[in-house]
Amino acid sequence: MATIKTLAEFITERQHEFTYATGELSQLLTSFRLAGKMVNREVNKAGLAEDIIGAAGQENVQGEQQQKLDVYANDLFIRLLRSQGMVCAVASEENDDIVHFDNGGKYVVTMDPLDGSSNIDVNVSIGTIFSIYRRVSTGDKATMADFMQPGTAQVAAGYIIYGSSTMLVYTTGHGVNGFTLDPSIGTFCLSHPNMTTPADGKIYSVNEGNYYDFSEGVRSYIDGCKKQKMSARYIGSLVADFHRNLMKGGIYMYPGTQKAPKGKLRLLYEANPLAMIVEQAGGKATDGTTRILDITPTELHQRCPLFIGSGNMVDAAVKN
Ligand code: AHG
Ligand code: MN
Ligand code: MN
Repeated sequence: MATIKTLAEFITERQHEFTYATGELSQLLTSFRLAGKMVNREVNKAGLAEDIIGAAGQENVQGEQQQKLDVYANDLFIRLLRSQGMVCAVASEENDDIVHFDNGGKYVVTMDPLDGSSNIDVNVSIGTIFSIYRRVSTGDKATMADFMQPGTAQVAAGYIIYGSSTMLVYTTGHGVNGFTLDPSIGTFCLSHPNMTTPADGKIYSVNEGNYYDFSEGVRSYIDGCKKQKMSARYIGSLVADFHRNLMKGGIYMYPGTQKAPKGKLRLLYEANPLAMIVEQAGGKATDGTTRILDITPTELHQRCPLFIGSGNMVDAAVKN
């Protein structure tokens, strides 16, 4: 019979692969594991109970204001990271500035606490994306320098997908492993060891509503996908589109346009963590000219075009 391995057991077993102190990785990932379960619980009852009761006045049974799920997720991740002590500061898509914990922690975190949030109300998969960096500044407080490190400096990156099942996928630079939440026992179990992505695929994912705003090169790549009768799949939740393509082979594109040359997605919260994961799985990620992981950020909420997925498809998409 196949053995069952929990995420906690797996992290302990592999902690020698983590460049820094023994036990640190497991402490770091604990907050994400726990917050993931709690967000999952909220996601699964979105639209139910308190929402219905509170629908008229936007208040729940306790008389508290209803919180949007992305604000709830953001507060929860920050609360857990703060109480756990390893992380001294967080940059989140939901906060204008760095959130400091003033605790001397050796790591900083960047995150998109809830990705695909426009899909919450319509029962479509959403996710959480996170990156962990070693702090490089030495003063009392973390500084911008800690967050302006290129993606190659990530010590770990991962995502949680709240889908038909809930999964946590992460890497520390030694391959990619996926864990599925068994809701009956509330535990993530190793379900996808050593995830790799095919070098070629048959799926292309892009918001084709923007087709006429794309460059000629991108348009001709999309035309080529159609001529080859590839499958168009676009959920509108990056995590979910990325996860499917990682498993099956495919490309996800959010190109720049003339109006928005840097596209929509954020380098620190979305592109970098998924780029580390895709590369660890054998795929590629670029902004069209530069490997995502080689970009040195200049601002927290920096956007970048993104072409990510199966290596040969990414090469072909940015060739022109
Ligand atoms: P978020 O919900 O964190 O703001 O991210 C939404 C992102 C991403 O998840 C998705 O792929 C993309 O926006 C969809 O954008 P379009 O609706 O422009 O296609
Ligand atoms: Mn997002
Ligand atoms: Mn988000």
